[in-house]
Amino acid sequence: MPFRLIMLVVLVQLLLLAMSCHRGTSRASAASAAHAQAKPGCLNRCGDFEIPYPFGTEPGCFLNEEFRITCNDTHFNPPKPFLRESNIDVVNISIDGHLNVMQYIASDCYDRKGNSEPSYDATISLSAFTVSDTGNNLVVIGCDSGAIVRGFLGEDSYESGCRSTCDSLDYVTNGSCVGIGCCQIEIPGGLKELDVEAYSFNNHTNVSSFNPCTYAFVVDQSEFHFTSNYLALGGIPDQFPMVLDWEISTNKTCEEEKICGLNASCDEPKDNNNTSSGYHCKCNKGYEGNPYLSDGCQDVNECNDPKLHDCKEICVNTEGSYTCHCPKGFHGDGRKYGGGCTPNQHTVIKVTLDMGENPTVVNDYVSRE
Ligand SMILES: *[C@@H]1O[C@H](CO)[C@@H](O)[C@H](O)[C@H]1NC(C)=O
Ligand SMILES: *[C@@H]1O[C@H](CO)[C@@H](O)[C@H](O)[C@H]1NC(C)=O
Ligand SMILES: *[C@@H]1O[C@H](CO)[C@@H](O)[C@H](O)[C@H]1NC(C)=O
Ligand SMILES: *[C@@H]1O[C@H](CO)[C@@H](O)[C@H](O)[C@H]1NC(C)=O
Ligand SMILES: *[C@@H]1O[C@H](CO)[C@@H](O)[C@H](O)[C@H]1NC(C)=O
Ligand SMILES: *[C@@H]1O[C@H](CO)[C@@H](O)[C@H](O)[C@H]1NC(C)=O
Ligand SMILES: *[C@@H]1O[C@H](CO)[C@@H](O)[C@H](O)[C@H]1NC(C)=O
Ligand SMILES: *[C@@H]1O[C@H](CO)[C@@H](O)[C@H](O)[C@H]1NC(C)=O
Ligand SMILES: *[C@@H]1O[C@H](CO)[C@@H](O)[C@H](O)[C@H]1NC(C)=O
Repeated sequence: MPFRLIMLVVLVQLLLLAMSCHRGTSRASAASAAHAQAKPGCLNRCGDFEIPYPFGTEPGCFLNEEFRITCNDTHFNPPKPFLRESNIDVVNISIDGHLNVMQYIASDCYDRKGNSEPSYDATISLSAFTVSDTGNNLVVIGCDSGAIVRGFLGEDSYESGCRSTCDSLDYVTNGSCVGIGCCQIEIPGGLKELDVEAYSFNNHTNVSSFNPCTYAFVVDQSEFHFTSNYLALGGIPDQFPMVLDWEISTNKTCEEEKICGLNASCDEPKDNNNTSSGYHCKCNKGYEGNPYLSDGCQDVNECNDPKLHDCKEICVNTEGSYTCHCPKGFHGDGRKYGGGCTPNQHTVIKVTLDMGENPTVVNDYVSRE
């Protein structure tokens, strides 16, 4: 057989190989469809806001009452999601256990004569929700002002506070929250049954002309920047962002409860001193999606993302994992940082040696591959 024909056979084989690789990847990518976040049969939406299970808006669509979201579409356009029956506005729910909310601030105001106006506490009293350890502060704003935050860490009660005083605005500095017009303290993650109370020491006597109110709130510290404008009446937003953690609270163990779906497992609390009685579910390695739904965890196609696999030549997706392969005529583990793929030595030698004298043997060999 002439040399050109041999080359053609080799080329055709390479082409077939390339095509089979291509088929492999496209089949795999079709399998990873968009992950549904709501329980089947539930329309867990509030306007454009998609609500992942275990949260939901309708009975049967949330895990239990603590995860009920009330969608208020009569007074808000676009509609706004609220935690349960509260006025706590949900901004973001992440399936890994965080919840971004906008919480009303506690206030305590006085008129020029020092007469008290109605004051408001800020509370979060749902047991599935605790203050996140991602960095929340208690902040108190005012010149005759104190605030107390109360709550529970596990069964233990927790109470802490902060005070801020000033005789004038002279030493109040934007961005500086050191007890002059603004005071802040860190509060621990895991706090539940949160209650924030704002109060004054002297009914804002002598400061009411520039600061009639004390305000207090727990806030995601990365989202808070003090300005002197906050001291004036109406100068402060009525809500601030904070980060909560959510978990499934239960009297049984996570395994007994059987809440986590297929290809998911229980993620028990990080501290084992019973400050938290709940748990999370997470998708097993190689899966992604909503682990609280029975088939919410879907196989990840690692082959579609070079960051998720280390195959040098051919990547084949499998349930929960992937395998690497070498093209025909090569061998090795197929991994970039392993042995990679090396040519099968006998093939090369045979082709080189037999090239001139006995082309038929080469042809035989190549077509057998
Ligand atoms: C919607 O919000 C308004 C104003 O806060 C309130 O009066 C109303 O009761 C809410 N509706 C629902 C269904 O929660
Ligand atoms: C919501 O959370 C996701 C994931 O944590 C994040 O990418 C997104 O920016 C968040 N959106 C808002 C509005 O906070
Ligand atoms: C503050 O006001 C309350 C009620 O308005 C009054 O009972 C109290 O004595 C006042 N306190 C001071 C320190 O003026
Ligand atoms: C208010 O100012 C007056 C005059 O400087 C002072 O006598 C009084 O003690 C001040 N009151 C408070 C509650 O600080
Ligand atoms: C703080 O910044 C605000 C604008 O954000 C400005 O109006 C105000 O005058 C500033 N206050 C001081 C004390 O610099
Ligand atoms: C756990 O047990 C207590 C009392 O035994 C009960 O009041 C509570 O509802 C139970 N919680 C759950 C999530 O079942
Ligand atoms: C994922 O779940 C399916 C259905 O139960 C099961 O057949 C499969 O073996 C699981 N995958 C792994 C890697 O456990
Ligand atoms: C649990 O509490 C004990 C005693 O109070 C302490 O020594 C231990 O470090 C704690 N463990 C964790 C994981 O917090
Ligand atoms: C945590 O709770 C479990 C079950 O209620 C109990 O067996 C264990 O002793 C508790 N651990 C601590 C440190 O309190």
